[in-house]
Amino acid sequence: MKPRIANFQTVLVAASLLVAAGLVAWAVRHALASDSPQDGGVPQRDSHQATSSGKAQPQATPHKFPVTIRKPSGPPRLDLGAVDSQGKPVTVACSTCHTTRPSNLAIRSPTDLKEFHQSMEFAHGNVSCLSCHNPEDYDSLRLADGRRVEFTEVMTLCAQCHGTQTRDYRHGAHGGMNGHWDLSRGPRVRNNCVDCHDPHAPSFPSMNPTFKPRDRFLEKADHVETEHHE
Ligand code: HEC
Ligand code: HEC
Ligand code: HEC
Ligand code: HEC
Repeated sequence: MKPRIANFQTVLVAASLLVAAGLVAWAVRHALASDSPQDGGVPQRDSHQATSSGKAQPQATPHKFPVTIRKPSGPPRLDLGAVDSQGKPVTVACSTCHTTRPSNLAIRSPTDLKEFHQSMEFAHGNVSCLSCHNPEDYDSLRLADGRRVEFTEVMTLCAQCHGTQTRDYRHGAHGGMNGHWDLSRGPRVRNNCVDCHDPHAPSFPSMNPTFKPRDRFLEKADHVETEHHE
């Protein structure tokens, strides 16, 4: 029957489109994965540059298992202190408020805050809020040269000012790791800088990095300090 065959052909075409889409997705994921350094290093500002500079950087990897660096799940959200009908805390994106108000470069510490966020703990040298937060988009971070950095890539921001610790981290001398040294035996997981250091009060490392999924990025945004006392 003609219509039958037509249908069959449609199905065939659809199926091959699906396969093609799958391949593309795989390729993209593969490309992304190979972007991250295999030595457990911080994503470098110019990883491509670093490679072409002739530095010893493992290229074709003989390893079977990957090194993964734990990452925040995304931008923080502010807890409004209320719960919804399902008992879940009501949170809003930073940009919700901050797109409606000009960013204030003069705010350097919580003592400068008169209206909001006052309860936050802050002790990070003389670094100002907007050395890290992006005044153009509060759902992201920013480097000194103006480049946008996603919260998931927060280590790129830390690396900008802490070259020594970042180098030590890359060599495995700072920041610890879990899993296998021998990557032919199993994967390795590395902590993110912010697993141990609160970006607002970094001198008090939480000495007990664990691998249960931490929901700090969904927790009461204004009470990060509770983490240090547990
Ligand atoms: C409910 C509204 C609201 C939300 C949501 C909010 N903020 Fe704010 N934020 C403010 C107000 C108001 C100020 C000014 C406080 C002051 O000057 O006393 C401020 C100030 C700041 C400042 C100081 C610089 C400036 O522009 O004033 C930073 C940095 C900041 N907020 C970051 C964030 C981040 C990051 C988030 C998301 C986790 C966030 N804010 C969510 C209302 C909000
Ligand atoms: C060294 C970089 C850095 C500086 C300086 C900094 N922040 Fe943050 N801030 C972050 C990062 C990274 C996060 C993401 C959440 C996390 O990792 O705890 C964050 C989260 C936040 C949040 C949401 C979660 C929370 O801790 O309440 C607010 C609000 C906020 N910052 C406001 C500010 C204000 C206001 C200042 C200045 C007084 C400031 N930040 C200074 C890096 C910074
Ligand atoms: C804009 C520059 C800048 C950025 C970005 C930055 N820091 Fe810092 N950090 C500083 C300065 C300045 C100090 C104080 C140095 C001193 O007193 O010797 C400091 C101190 C520290 C300390 C030592 C605190 C102490 O009291 O011993 C730690 C840990 C730290 N930062 C971690 C981080 C982490 C983690 C990040 C990323 C979330 C980060 N920093 C981002 C500039 C920066
Ligand atoms: C496993 C937890 C852990 C991780 C991950 C971690 N640190 Fe630390 N860091 C510490 C501890 C503990 C100290 C204090 C003891 C010491 O001196 O080593 C410290 C100290 C520091 C200091 C203060 C200077 C010093 O050496 O005493 C800086 C700056 C710092 N870390 C930055 C970073 C940066 C940047 C990253 C991410 C590349 C990072 N740390 C990752 C645990 C960690």
